[in-house]
Amino acid sequence: MIILENVTKEYTSGTPALNGIDLRIEKGEFVFVVGNSGSGKSTLIKLLLKELDATSGKIYVNKKYLNKITRKRLPSLRRDIGVVFQDFRLLPDRNVYDNIAFAMKVVEAPSRIIRGRVLAMLSMVGLLDKYKSFPNELSGGEQQRVAIARALVNEPSILLCDEPTGNLDPENSWEIMKILDEINKRGTTVLVVTHNMEIVQAMKKRTITMNNGKIISDVEKGGYFYED
Ligand SMILES: Nc1ncnc2c1ncn2[C@@H]1O[C@H](COP(=O)(O)OP(=O)(O)O)[C@@H](O)[C@H]1O
Ligand SMILES: [Mg+2]
Repeated sequence: MIILENVTKEYTSGTPALNGIDLRIEKGEFVFVVGNSGSGKSTLIKLLLKELDATSGKIYVNKKYLNKITRKRLPSLRRDIGVVFQDFRLLPDRNVYDNIAFAMKVVEAPSRIIRGRVLAMLSMVGLLDKYKSFPNELSGGEQQRVAIARALVNEPSILLCDEPTGNLDPENSWEIMKILDEINKRGTTVLVVTHNMEIVQAMKKRTITMNNGKIISDVEKGGYFYED
């Protein structure tokens, strides 16, 4: 599903943001990525979306070889990857329903299909009753749940989350992680960058630790690694 072979990314010459990364994530996995600020976590996500190109090395996502993918095929790659960010990135002048539907209109789905999908997503994140609300009328946790619904509306096979609970209190953080776990149980491959070690310890998922652009550990059940 996701393969990196000896991937290096240098923004400017000097210390690379990613330095010789080898990584393999299978279909259906749930993976945490942890590590200090500046260790290369967001860069990894940008490479998977092909927002950036690797300086060297090979990247495959869903059997697509990203080094060689044409501009024309980029939308098809991006449709198959949902993304969630720390700062939600909702459209402030659209209500919840339209924020989610907007992601589908981009791919020109018929309105009846859009309605069914949007409502299914809202139900999954527990926000059916808020479909008319605007982002500024929602709590941070609710806004992030809308962002997750939007990320999933085109049924991507992969969901990438870059510090999705970075702006949330512990209770809302847990709520978001439980939703991500449920999404994974329904078959989506989920990769979550986080600093929330309490949650990483408790959820016991595969956990990759990065430092200075390298993977310094990759353990099957995060909780055991961080326990004394
Ligand atoms: N657009 C950029 N231009 C130059 N350097 C960058 C850019 N984005 C990130 N970096 C550098 O790359 C390294 C990794 O950054 P990043 O991937 O954002 O780390 P993390 O998400 O783990 O905090 C850092 O040293 C950062 O300063
Ligand atoms: Mg980052």
